[in-house]
Amino acid sequence: MTETRVFFNFDVTADSHTLAAYRQRGGYQALEKVLKGMQPIDVENEVKASGLRGRGGAGFPTGMKWSFVNKQSPVIYLCCNADEGEPGTFKDRWIFENTSHQLIEGMIIASYALKVRHSFIYIRGEFDLPYRRLMEALKEAKEAGLVGEKILGTEFSCDIIVHQGGGAYVCGEESSLLTSIEGFKGYPKNKPPFPAVKGLYQKPTVINNVETLATIPWILANGGATYAAIGTEKCSGTKLFGVSGHVNRPGLFEKPMGYSYKKLIYEDCGGILGGKELKAVIPGGSSTPVLLPSEIETLTMDAEAVQAAGSMLGSGGVIVIAEGTCMVRLLQVLSRFYAHESCGQCTPCREGSAWMNDIITRISRGKGVKGDLERLECITKGIMGNTVCALGDAASMPVNGFLKKFRHEFEYFIEHGRSMYDGRLEI
Ligand SMILES: Cc1cc2nc3c(=O)[nH]c(=O)nc-3n(C[C@H](O)[C@H](O)[C@H](O)COP(=O)(O)O)c2cc1C
Ligand code: SF4
Repeated sequence: MTETRVFFNFDVTADSHTLAAYRQRGGYQALEKVLKGMQPIDVENEVKASGLRGRGGAGFPTGMKWSFVNKQSPVIYLCCNADEGEPGTFKDRWIFENTSHQLIEGMIIASYALKVRHSFIYIRGEFDLPYRRLMEALKEAKEAGLVGEKILGTEFSCDIIVHQGGGAYVCGEESSLLTSIEGFKGYPKNKPPFPAVKGLYQKPTVINNVETLATIPWILANGGATYAAIGTEKCSGTKLFGVSGHVNRPGLFEKPMGYSYKKLIYEDCGGILGGKELKAVIPGGSSTPVLLPSEIETLTMDAEAVQAAGSMLGSGGVIVIAEGTCMVRLLQVLSRFYAHESCGQCTPCREGSAWMNDIITRISRGKGVKGDLERLECITKGIMGNTVCALGDAASMPVNGFLKKFRHEFEYFIEHGRSMYDGRLEI
């Protein structure tokens, strides 16, 4: 049986990103169907029926998020989160480069359902080709009457405003993203109030990831129930998984939820580089707890299964680590990232992420001292659950995961002043 594809359903060619090519593969038919034959509430119900869950990392049900917005509010905003900052994640950029129109169509459909007149795309500032492709597609869509005033000759009007990101990982956090669009420093805010109640410019706002919104046209074209039938019962549909690290064929794959990690690594990605043994897998972007080969042996790629294994499906960035990699040095790279990206607004994250990085760096330079591992664990306890946004947790989870699964490597480094892998392949 051929697998359903929401994204990888066309061959990428020199012009497959254009409006003409998108239309040829059925593009904008869902929008026409929606605007000319459905009420906004029907669209929301279809999305609810699909069981679609947000693809930005937390997996919140999309239809439910939309239903939290008071549709009687005179102004409602939709923001597409295209910051894509989590290390190991590279799916949204593929959507921009190859099928920006799919996102635009999804955003106009979502805007119709949510009664939005102005919607926003917050796109990662470092993106070049993805940004240019998006702007080309928006120009085409506006000229074709698919965005702007009286779309497709109906009474519905909606503009899409593109905002280039501030170059910080934290700006992908939803409240920080809104603050950044408003022109302020991208500091996250305490919740409640949630953006659905008080978001951009104090108005009710829905924030959804690129992949989430680009899935909407398929759901409206094929029906929510058809989408719900793909994947697992609680985690429906397909998802884009970006595989990086020590595999023979890294890349982006579209798989139904519930697919096997082992198949992904050994069949789709051609196995481990150099025929080495698998050492570990970070299953959903660098902040998600690391898993051992025994833990992924029968593990399926869906939120419930990965959670039961002690980690998270996250943004779908699968980082594969081969035998021979020094986990101390790998954690040092990760902790440096999170310490650098902490916005500094709240003390546990600002101080804690820097302390963790200092201690791990010290260990990785052969200067670790007795008690360092306990100190690290104590710091993560002080951070987790005590910060304004989840970046604090994101910085702590890899530390806990690495210490739990690879403690002996850290102990060896402290005791001998060097890696147990020195002289062998390291990351
Ligand atoms: C530090 C941090 C960074 C984040 N970065 C992103 C990001 O780059 N893209 C994204 O879609 N969500 C990101 N999120 C999650 C968003 O806050 C939000 O949950 C998501 O955009 C909601 O969209 P969804 O419901 O479609 O998943 C981040 C969260 C945190 C705490
Ligand atoms: S948890 Fe970290 S990134 Fe988030 S608001 Fe606090 S200091 Fe800033």
